[in-house]
Amino acid sequence: MANNNLNAAKEAKKDEFYTQLKDINNELRHYREHFRGKTVLCNCDDPRVSNFFTYFAYNFEFLGLKRLITTCYKNQDADLFSQHQSEKAVYLIYEGDKNGNNIPDPEEIGIHPLKGDGDFRSRECIELLKQADIVVTNPPFSLFREYVAQLIEYDKKFIIIGNQNQITKKELFPYFMENKVWLGYGFKGGATHFISKYEDIATAGEHKQGMIRVSGVVWFTNLEIKKRHENIILYRNYNPEDYPRYDNYDAIEVNKTEEIPCDYDGIMGVPLTFMDKYNPEQFELLGLTSGRDEFIARPTKRYENPKQYTNGKVSNGGKVNTHANILYSRPPIGKTYYTADNANGYLVSVYDRILIRKK
Ligand SMILES: C[S@@+](CC[C@H](N)C(=O)[O-])C[C@H]1O[C@@H](n2cnc3c(N)ncnc32)[C@H](O)[C@@H]1O
Repeated sequence: MANNNLNAAKEAKKDEFYTQLKDINNELRHYREHFRGKTVLCNCDDPRVSNFFTYFAYNFEFLGLKRLITTCYKNQDADLFSQHQSEKAVYLIYEGDKNGNNIPDPEEIGIHPLKGDGDFRSRECIELLKQADIVVTNPPFSLFREYVAQLIEYDKKFIIIGNQNQITKKELFPYFMENKVWLGYGFKGGATHFISKYEDIATAGEHKQGMIRVSGVVWFTNLEIKKRHENIILYRNYNPEDYPRYDNYDAIEVNKTEEIPCDYDGIMGVPLTFMDKYNPEQFELLGLTSGRDEFIARPTKRYENPKQYTNGKVSNGGKVNTHANILYSRPPIGKTYYTADNANGYLVSVYDRILIRKK
C-alpha cells in the first residue's frame, strides 16, 4: 500500500511537467500543412501557462487555423503549476486576430466556465473534443493510455508527448501494429527538459534552473509525416553467429536497429528504438517478446519449472517466460541465466524486443 502511494505520488509529479516552447516548435514545424482550416484542441492545458496555447495563438494566422480551444484542469489560479485547488475550470476559444495587431489580445479570447473540473474524460470536455480536428498537448503521464484510447475512440488526429516505454504497453502496441499511431520526429537524444517545480536530478552539465530533465520522451501522432516513409538503410548481411536464434521465438536477435540484416526474410527481434525509424512500407510489426499469445509472432514454447540464477543465488525464474531467450550449452559467466525442465541448456533473456519482418 505504502509503495502504491509512493508510485501514485511519483506519477502525479510527472503530470506536472510543462513543455518548452522550443520543443513544441521543433516538432510542429513538420506538420504545418495539416493545420490549415482546422480546429485545434489542447485539452490538458491551462491556457494562461501552457506553451501549447502560446504556440497556436501566436501562429494562428501563419498556420491558417480555424479555431483554437484549450481547456484548463481544475485550478483557476494563474500560477505556473497546477495546484488543483478549485473544482471548477474554464475553456478558452480563440478565433484569430481581429484588430490587426497580430497578437492574441485578452479581449479576443473567449473565456467560458466549465461545469466540472476540466477532466479530459468528462462529458463537456468530450463535447469539445468532438469539435476538434487535431489534438495537440502533453497529457498527464499517469493517464496516458486512457488518453490515447479516447482519441482513437473519437477518431481524432493528434500530436502528443509521452514516454517511449508506453509503446510496448499491451493497450498501445496494437495501435502501432494497426497503423493507427506512430512516432513523430522527437527530441534530440530522446530527452528534454520540462518546466517543473520538482527537484532536478540531472547531472551538473545538464542541469537547468526550474526544469527537470526527462529521458525516453517521444511524440506520438497519427498525422502523415515524411519521416514515416523513409527507409532504414540496411548494410549488414545475415550470419548465424552475429544474429543468434531465440529458443522460444521463431526469430533472430538483432540488438541494434542499424544492424538489421538486409538479406534476412524471417522474423527479427529489434530494440524499442526501432520504432523511431519504422517505415510501414519497409517492415511489418508482428508483436512483442512479452510472452503473450495475442500477437502474430507468438512464443513457440512456455518454460516449465523455470529457475533463475544470479550471482550463485537461485530463485523463481518466471521472468524467462516474458522475454525472448538465447540458449547456451554452458552457464554464461557473470550474467543472470535461467534453466527449465524443457530447456536444453542455459537461457539468457534479452531486453524487450519488437518482432518485425521485411516486406
Ligand atoms: C504533463 S502536464 C503538461 C501540461 C501542458 N500540456 C504542457 O505541456 O505544458 C499535464 C497537465 O494535465 C493536467 N491534468 C492532469 N489530469 C488531468 C485530467 N484528468 N484531465 C485534464 N487535464 C489533466 C495537469 O494538471 C497538467 O497541467
